[in-house]
Amino acid sequence: MQVHFNLKNICIVLIGACFVYLSYLLWGSGSADHFPDVEVELRDLVSYAILAAETGGHAVSEVHKEKRLQAAKKGQTKEGADEFVTRADLISNQLILDTLKRFPGIRIVSEEKSTSFDDSELEPYRLDKYAQWLNSRDLINRIPSRKHKLSTLAIWVDPLDATQEYTEDLLEYVTVMVCIVASGQPIFGVIYRPFHDETVFGMMGWGVMTSKGGRKLPVREHVPEKIMVSRSHAGTVEELAKKAFGESYTVEAAGGSGYKVLRLVNGTAELYMHRTAIKKWDTCAGDAIVRAAGGSMLDLEGADQTYWPDEPVKNEKGLLVALTNPFTYYQKIEPFIKEDSEKNV
Ligand SMILES: *[C@@H]1O[C@H](CO)[C@@H](O)[C@H](O)[C@H]1NC(C)=O
Repeated sequence: MQVHFNLKNICIVLIGACFVYLSYLLWGSGSADHFPDVEVELRDLVSYAILAAETGGHAVSEVHKEKRLQAAKKGQTKEGADEFVTRADLISNQLILDTLKRFPGIRIVSEEKSTSFDDSELEPYRLDKYAQWLNSRDLINRIPSRKHKLSTLAIWVDPLDATQEYTEDLLEYVTVMVCIVASGQPIFGVIYRPFHDETVFGMMGWGVMTSKGGRKLPVREHVPEKIMVSRSHAGTVEELAKKAFGESYTVEAAGGSGYKVLRLVNGTAELYMHRTAIKKWDTCAGDAIVRAAGGSMLDLEGADQTYWPDEPVKNEKGLLVALTNPFTYYQKIEPFIKEDSEKNV
């Protein structure tokens, strides 16, 4: 067959080429919509999670210097304790979300709703923690490479843990926490202490590190027989603890779930117990660190926590946290829990 270069044939070729090009465009963008599930290098996400916690924490300490917390009551817990939110919670939250924007499409669950301070309002609190972050980056680079599908990941954010203590100037207890979850399991947690400028982070299967000297934690020698409990929601935990573990145990009330986990990690307490409802953004990063250290954060029915982004954020079953032999402790306490719950009603 002979091809004639007449107008008709040229038109057919051109239309054909346009058609191929159009379908390429359609199919191309269609496939991108269909497979947005990229693989994320966990190490990259970890480094931004750390930067986010430090950036939020810096804002928390800057707002504190201004003495303009504008604390407001957010509501009350079932036990009647006030819940607060301050400007620091909101500013820290927004800066953390800004930092995590680098990973579009990732699910984020945060204690605070997103707010909209404009850039000029946030400017004084943005910080240059870049040098510090570079420091952590050296540590992070030693983490082995692991990839996760974006759709399996979620991030839980607590922009300011121990808000009540923050308003009371009990700054020791204040932390900022970011937690990475894969398929409902906490695999990485970072707890930043803004008033001590210390970052502690842990990753499953890798261990726990602190920015102070980069030591591998936790400490397990000469741990005192001490149980950390909540300052504001202590309930009947002290009596329960003594019945289950013996009179030699002492109980210390402290603010902040992040803080209490850190006390276990540095070996200044043996257990952390909680009886009343607690929100999952308060426990996610601590849970990840406890797991990274080889321990468990059980509820008082003996089960691990899960952190699916769509499940209820409230854990009403209490906590028993230990870095070693969590189930042995649980067995000691189990017979007393029922009796104690009846008393709590
Ligand atoms: C243990 O950790 C807590 C919280 O991070 C800190 O306040 C305390 O100073 C630490 N104690 C020791 C002995 O390292």
